[in-house]
Parts: sequence; structure tokens; C-alpha cells
Amino acid sequence: MTRCDRTEAWAALLGHYEAHGRGLDLREAFARDPGRFAAFSLQAPEVFADLSKNLVDTATLRFLLDLARECGLEARRDAMLRGEVANATEGRAVLHTALRAPRGAAPFGDEVHGVLDAMLAYAEKVRADGFTDVVNIGIGGSDLGPQMVVPALDAYGRRGLNLHFVSNVDGHDIEPVLRGLDPAKTLFIVASKTFTTQETMANATVARQWFTDRGGRDVARHFAATTTNVKAAAEFGISTTFGFWDWVGGRYSMWSAIGLPIAIAIGEANFRALLAGAHAMDRHFAEAPLARNLPALLGLIDVWYRNFHRFGSRSVAPYHQGLKRLPAYLQQLEMESNGKQVDVEGRSLPYGTSPVVWGEPGTNGQHAYFQMLHQGTDVIPVEFIAVKTPSHPHADLHAKLLANCLAQSQALMLGKDSDAARAEKAPTASATLDRDVLARHRTFPGNRPSTTFVLDALTPRSLGALIAMYEHRVFTSGAVWGINSFDQWGVELGKALCNDLLPRLASGNAAGLDGSTAGLLARLRG
Ligand code: F6P
Repeated sequence: MTRCDRTEAWAALLGHYEAHGRGLDLREAFARDPGRFAAFSLQAPEVFADLSKNLVDTATLRFLLDLARECGLEARRDAMLRGEVANATEGRAVLHTALRAPRGAAPFGDEVHGVLDAMLAYAEKVRADGFTDVVNIGIGGSDLGPQMVVPALDAYGRRGLNLHFVSNVDGHDIEPVLRGLDPAKTLFIVASKTFTTQETMANATVARQWFTDRGGRDVARHFAATTTNVKAAAEFGISTTFGFWDWVGGRYSMWSAIGLPIAIAIGEANFRALLAGAHAMDRHFAEAPLARNLPALLGLIDVWYRNFHRFGSRSVAPYHQGLKRLPAYLQQLEMESNGKQVDVEGRSLPYGTSPVVWGEPGTNGQHAYFQMLHQGTDVIPVEFIAVKTPSHPHADLHAKLLANCLAQSQALMLGKDSDAARAEKAPTASATLDRDVLARHRTFPGNRPSTTFVLDALTPRSLGALIAMYEHRVFTSGAVWGINSFDQWGVELGKALCNDLLPRLASGNAAGLDGSTAGLLARLRG
């Protein structure tokens, strides 16, 4: 496959960027074209997307679609969905889509539905069995999905059943959780694809000790494991296990047995609705023409911003408090997937890959870092997520929330010129400052891009579709960049060095260490 920067479309995009892209002004574009909103917005399953406030015109999208074709996006997508080895460095297929396909509609259907049925039956049993607390012990992909989804679907949660998440190998994480628990009414889920992850094994050991120290005997009833390594879970003493497969990447695993805490929180029917929403988005990604394919368009605009505009980051602003962990979830999904410096053939890449992804729920972010988004020196595309109908009764709060969401994307785009700033009444405290100087401080450049997603309501189905949209978007930009979006070798070096340093913390042996690490080691031991 031709590398993306050697395609004809890339050259065309470079020319287009210089001639039109760099200078595109959103305010002029809307003034010129009253149909811009309709032309650049799209209804995908459960997710409406307004792309019209992005720095694109029809020519940009045409060239980006050419780029997708030249890079073989559709062929790569189809190969992944068929179950071909899409993760070459680990020799694995990539089939998280099979986890949410109806019976018989995707590879490994019997295995998938066998585990799903058993896991959901167990979740229902836990919900009926007098447990008050469920503690998920896992990290990365074995934590972030359930930790994001459970609060997002709080409206569907079972009252009186509290879900906790322990991930960090830091006693400050597990200790406050254990403090409030009754061992007789607590279920621990040890979630680890490999069942070897240091943090998870250490926390699971602490939890088991805590349980037995307080007279707990029935480990089989109070501990369950979700893992591909059922043997290691059994060796740890856990007999209730739900498996999954090596073709499910950690950050794509919330649809598998790793979703057990979600299923316990929201119940079988709602978990199945979450899967159905994701499947609807899978079909959209597989079947919609690229020009009307939401994940594909988003991934292509990401490439446009990263490689032509050279934007290094993207901010996510969910205007729904339930989605407070979505930015953290997306950080792993996108940055662990596409934070790569070589292509699938191992060639160093001369172009940027994953941007930094970050954010906080609106309106909190507005009162923290939105200053920089509006007036800072870097342009950072923002992604707003608005939910039309809330699941609480406070209509007044919701109206204010939505008005804030609309106002922010509007302000980013419209800005405020110095004439408008000069015409404003100056605050009395700045009376001594020259009027023009003050006006310059109060000027907003505008023309800052954003995307707004609208969900009718945050339901299991719409959340499933939203997350699947993000997965396929990450696949799209990764496919164009020609990288393996499904391995994560970048996390290994630190793990190996940690294994070397752990005994040194006890012994103080600094032989062979660099000066800084040796100095810090001594200080931490002293
Ligand atoms: O941080 C690396 C990583 O392998 C992630 O990809 C994964 O989600 C996480 O560790 C947890 O791994 P496991 O589920 O095997 O404990």
C-alpha cells in the first residue's frame, strides 16, 4: 500500500491547504453558503454530528476521501471485520466488532454468545443476591471502559448497589474504597486480560487479604475474574471466571466479559442495548459510503488537522456530567492506538500521528482552560457532546447547560474583533489602561474549529453507538497513517525498568543507574 504522504491525494491536499485550507474563514464560509450546516452535518445511528464548524470545504473533503481510497481504508476495514490479522506485530485478528454482533453475524459467534449469556446470567444473579458493593480491580482497558460507562448510565443503575473502581498501584486508591465495605456484601472482580499486570495483581492480593482478615471464607462467592488467562485466575484462587480472546484488545474490551461491572450495574437488557448500539454503528461504518460515513469523516478530518494544519491536540467537552470519564477513556483509545512512530512495515514516519486528547465535562472546563482555547496561541479543535433530553428533572439547569454548550462553539468560531472589544464598556478597575491596549486583551481571534455531537438521550444504545464511532474513527486515521493501531509496545519499557528498580528500592543498590535515577532512589529511601 502506498504510504499516505506519497499518494496523489496527499499532494493535492498540500496544494489545497496552501491555496485555500490555511486561509479558510468559517465566518465567511457560513455567510457565503446558507446551506453549510445541512451540507456538513450528518445523522449516523444514534449520533448526530455537526461538522460544519470545521476548517473544511467540499474540496477538502473530496481530497480526504481520495486519500482514504488511495490508502485502502475500505479494504483494511473489510479485512479487519472479516477477522484477518490486523494486528501484525502481535499476530492477532482484531474483532471487537464480533463482540456486539448478533448471533451468527460475525466470526466466533458461538464462543462470544456463550460467554455473553453466562456473564449476563451471573450479573443478574449478583444483582439479586444481596450484594451492596462491587469492586472492579483492573487498569487501562480493564478499567476505563466500565469506569466510564457506569456513571454515564447512572439513570439505568440499580439503586443500593454501589460500583467502585480500583486501578492504581497506590494504597491511596484501594484504601478509601475498602474502608467503607462489608466483606459479607462485597463482590470483587479482578479484571485483567493477561492476569499478569503488576498493578492489578497487587491490588487483588490486597483485596483478598482484606477479605480473609475480616473472616471472609467464601472466596468463590466473593471474587470473580474476567480474563483471557483463566488458568492464572484459577491459580490465584478464583473459580468464577469469564473469558475472552486474544483478538480483543484491552482498550476495545468493554464489550466483552470486561463489561461485567457494567452488566451488574445496568442489567442484562441494558447491556444488550449497549451492544446493539455499537453494532448499529459498526454497520454504518461497514456499509455507508465514505462521504456519509461518520467515523470515516471524523478520522479523515483528524488527519487534515494533524498533518496539514499541524494541530497537536484535541479537546473533548462532554456536556453531560455522566460522561466525566469519557476524555480519560478516549485518551487510552486514541493515544495508545495511534501514538506510533513507525508504519506497519517498521519505517519511521515523517508525519505526525496521534494528537494529544484531553478534556473535562462542560461547563467545568469553561472555568479552567477554555481561556486558552479562546485566546491562546495554539489552535485546538474542540469536540462538544450535547444531550437533548436529560435523565434528571431540572429543566432549568439543562437549558443553561445546553446554552453554554452552544455558546462555546459559537464563541470559538465567531471570536470578537478589536472594534467590538473597543466598543465595550471597560471594567472600572482597568480605567487607567489605554483603551486600545485593553481592547487588544479583549479580542478573540475566532475561526477556531469544533465539532458538535448531539444525542437525543444518553441511553445504553446511544452510548454504545458513540463509543463505537470513536473506535472506528481511530481506526480510520490509523489506517491512513499506515500504522498498527492495535499494539502498545510503548508501555513495555517502563514496565521492565520498574521490575529492575523495585528490588533496588529495598536494597539501595544504585549500581549502573543514571545519576538522576540514583539520586531520586536515594532520596526516596532516605
Ligand atoms: O498499559 C498497557 C496495557 O496492556 C493496556 O493495553 C491494557 O488495557 C492494560 O495494560 C491492562 O492490561 P491487562 O488487562 O492485561 O491487565
